[in-house]
Amino acid sequence: MAVARVRAQESAAENALFEDPYAAAFVAASGEPLRPRPGPGPLAAVLAFQTVVRTRFYDDQLLHSGHDQVVLLAAGLDTRAYRLGWPPGTRLYEVDLPPVLDFKHRVLAARSAEPRCERAAVPADLLTPTWADRLREAGFDPTRPATWLVEGLLVYLTAEQSAALLTTVGELSAPGSMLALERGRSGRTVLDDPSVAHITSLWKGGLGAGTADWLAGHGWHPRNHPLDEVAAHYGRPTANPSGTGFITALRTPRGGQP
Ligand SMILES: C[S@@+](CC[C@H](N)C(=O)[O-])C[C@H]1O[C@@H](n2cnc3c(N)ncnc32)[C@H](O)[C@@H]1O
Repeated sequence: MAVARVRAQESAAENALFEDPYAAAFVAASGEPLRPRPGPGPLAAVLAFQTVVRTRFYDDQLLHSGHDQVVLLAAGLDTRAYRLGWPPGTRLYEVDLPPVLDFKHRVLAARSAEPRCERAAVPADLLTPTWADRLREAGFDPTRPATWLVEGLLVYLTAEQSAALLTTVGELSAPGSMLALERGRSGRTVLDDPSVAHITSLWKGGLGAGTADWLAGHGWHPRNHPLDEVAAHYGRPTANPSGTGFITALRTPRGGQP
C-alpha cells in the first residue's frame, strides 16, 4: 500500500508529476491512514521521491513506445490502464497474484472506473514459468513487439529469480520490444544505513547494479537513466542519495543491434 499512498499524496500536490485518481481509494479500502503518524522518516522520503519520479518516467516510456501490446508484470495497484491516454488499439496486460488483482478490481468497480484501452487481468505467480502460458492465453502475441514494465518488483527477488523472470520475458519478446525496469543501487548509499535495515532487510536485491550488464548479455540493448538526471528533467533536482535509477532496453534481433 506504500506505493498507492505515495501516488495519492503526489496526485494531491501542486505541480504533481502525474494524477492517479484511484490511489487514495486503494489506501482507504485497505483501512490504512493516508498520512500515517509519525510522518515519513528520511528513508521513506527517499523512497517516495523515487516512486514519484519513476511513475512519471514509466508513464512517458510506455505511452511513447509505439507498441500496441503492453505488459505490466507485478502490476499491483498500477492504474495506468485507467488514467493514461492510450493510442487506439492498445491492449494492456496486468500480471499479478490473484488476491491483489481481486482487491484492485473491487475498488475500481466500486468507483465505476473504465479502462482507456483494452485491459486483460492475468492472475499468475511470476515465480513459476507457467505465467507465460497464462499471458498467451489472455491474448498476448509473442511474435509481435511489446512493451514490458517491471516496476517495484526485482528488488524483492533474488538474482536467480530475477534472471529466470527476465529470461522468460526475453523468450516472449520479438525484436524491437522494449523493457523498462529499475536498476539496483551502485556503491554505498543511504539505503545501506543500518538504521533502515528494518525495511531494506526485506529486499533481496534483484540483479542489483549488474542489471544492465545482465540484459546486454541476454539479447537486450540497455540504456541507463540515473534517477537524478530523470528527476532534473521533470524539474525535481536531487543529489540521488539512493544511487538508483532506471533502465530501458530494446530487444535486439538475434545477435544484432536494435
Ligand atoms: C511494490 S508492488 C509494485 C506494484 C506496481 N508495479 C507499482 O509499482 O505500483 C510489488 C508487486 O509485486 C507483486 N508480486 C510479488 N511477488 C509476485 C509473484 N510471485 N507473482 C506475481 N506478482 C508478484 C505484488 O503482489 C505487488 O503487487
